[in-house]
Amino acid sequence: DAGPLVDTFGRAVTYLRVSVTDRCDFRCVYCMSEHMTFLPKPELLSLEELDRLCSAFVLRGVRRLRLTGGEPLVRRDVMTLFHSLSRHLETGRLDEVTLTTNGSLLSRYAGDLAGCGVKRINVSLDTLDPLKFRQVTRWGDLSRVLDGIQAAASAGIKVKINTVALKGVNGDEIGDLVAWAHGAGYDLSLIEVMPLGETGAERVDQYLPLTDVRARLEERFTLSDIAYRTGGPARYVEVKETGGRLGFITPLTHNFCEGCNRVRVTCTGTLYMCLGQEDAADLRAPLRASASDAALHAAIDAAIFRKPKGHDFVIDRAHGPALHRHMSTTGG
Ligand code: GTP
Ligand code: 5AD
Ligand code: SF4
Repeated sequence: DAGPLVDTFGRAVTYLRVSVTDRCDFRCVYCMSEHMTFLPKPELLSLEELDRLCSAFVLRGVRRLRLTGGEPLVRRDVMTLFHSLSRHLETGRLDEVTLTTNGSLLSRYAGDLAGCGVKRINVSLDTLDPLKFRQVTRWGDLSRVLDGIQAAASAGIKVKINTVALKGVNGDEIGDLVAWAHGAGYDLSLIEVMPLGETGAERVDQYLPLTDVRARLEERFTLSDIAYRTGGPARYVEVKETGGRLGFITPLTHNFCEGCNRVRVTCTGTLYMCLGQEDAADLRAPLRASASDAALHAAIDAAIFRKPKGHDFVIDRAHGPALHRHMSTTGG
C-alpha cells in the first residue's frame, strides 16, 4: 500500500538521505583512501531516476530530504534535481530539502540553492588551519571553503558546520572552532569518527571520544546541562558564552538508534536501512523495470520491514572497518 513508512520497532521514517554521487573533489583521511575507485557512470541513477525515487518516498511520508555524497555539488547538473524537488516544498509535502557539502563549490552554487528553496546546509570543516586542512582533505583549499560558507550565508542559507574529532589533528582546536562558528552565527556539530570503508589509516589512531573533547571544552565554555535532540543523531547543548548551539554525534560512546527516523539511498539506488549495517535493498531494478511505481513501493515496504534496531560499531585494532562501503557511498 502507499501508507506511511513505519518499521517493526514503531519508528516512522520521515527523513531520507540520498547520496547523489560517490565522487568527491577531496579525499578526507577518515572518509576515503588516497586512490579511490569510483563507480562507472552507467551504474548511477540518472537525475530523473533520483527525482522519481525521492518523490516515491515523499509520497510515503518523508518530510525531509538531504542530498549528500561524496560531494553532491560535483555531480553534473545537480541543480536540476534540486529544482525539480523544490515542487514538493511548494505543495507542502516536504518540509525541507538540504544538503551536506564540503563547501568547495558553494561560492558557485549558493545563489542557485537558495533559489531552489534550500534554507539550511551542513558544511564539513575539520580545522581552520590551512595546512592541516590540506592534510585532512589531502589537497583541499581552506580559503575556497570559507568563501563558499560566506557565499551561502550571504544568500540567506543557514549554515551548520560538521567537525569530525580527530586525534592528533584538531583536538586542541575544537574550542577555537566553536568560537569561530558561533561568532559567525553558525551552529556546530562534533562527530566521532565511524569505522566505514578502508582509508589506509587505522581508525583507532584517529578516534577521539567526544567525552574527552567535551571535558576540554568545559574548561573554556559553559555548556547547558540539558541536551535536546531534533530528530537526528545529534544531542545539542547551548554554549553560554557564545549563545550558539553545539551538537554531539556520538555513535561510539552513546548510541542513539532507538529514535532513528531515517533511511539512506546510494547513488546506484541501493537502500540502506541503517548507516551501520550491511543489509540493503536494491531499488534500481524495480525503478527501471516499469514506469509504474508499484514494484518500487513494494520493495520499499519490504525493506522498511527489515530496518534493524541499530548499528554495532566498535573501534579497536582487532577489527577492520565495520563495513566495507565508504561513508561517501551512503552519505552518512
Ligand atoms: P540535521 O540533523 O538534519 O542537521 O543533519 P544530520 O546531522 O543528520 O546530517 P549531517 O549530514 O550533517 O551528518 C552529520 C553526521 O551524522 C555524519 O557524520 C553522518 O554520518 C552522521 N549521521 C547521520 N545520520 C546518522 C545515523 O543514522 N547513524 C549514525 N551513526 N550517524 C549518522
Ligand atoms: N566517520 C565520521 N564522519 C564521517 N564523515 C565522513 N566519513 C566519516 C567517518 N568515517 C563525515 C563528513 C561529513 C559527514 C557527512 O560525514 O565529515 O560531515
Ligand atoms: Fe569528500 Fe566529505 Fe568524504 Fe571529505 S568527508 S572526502 S569532503 S565526501
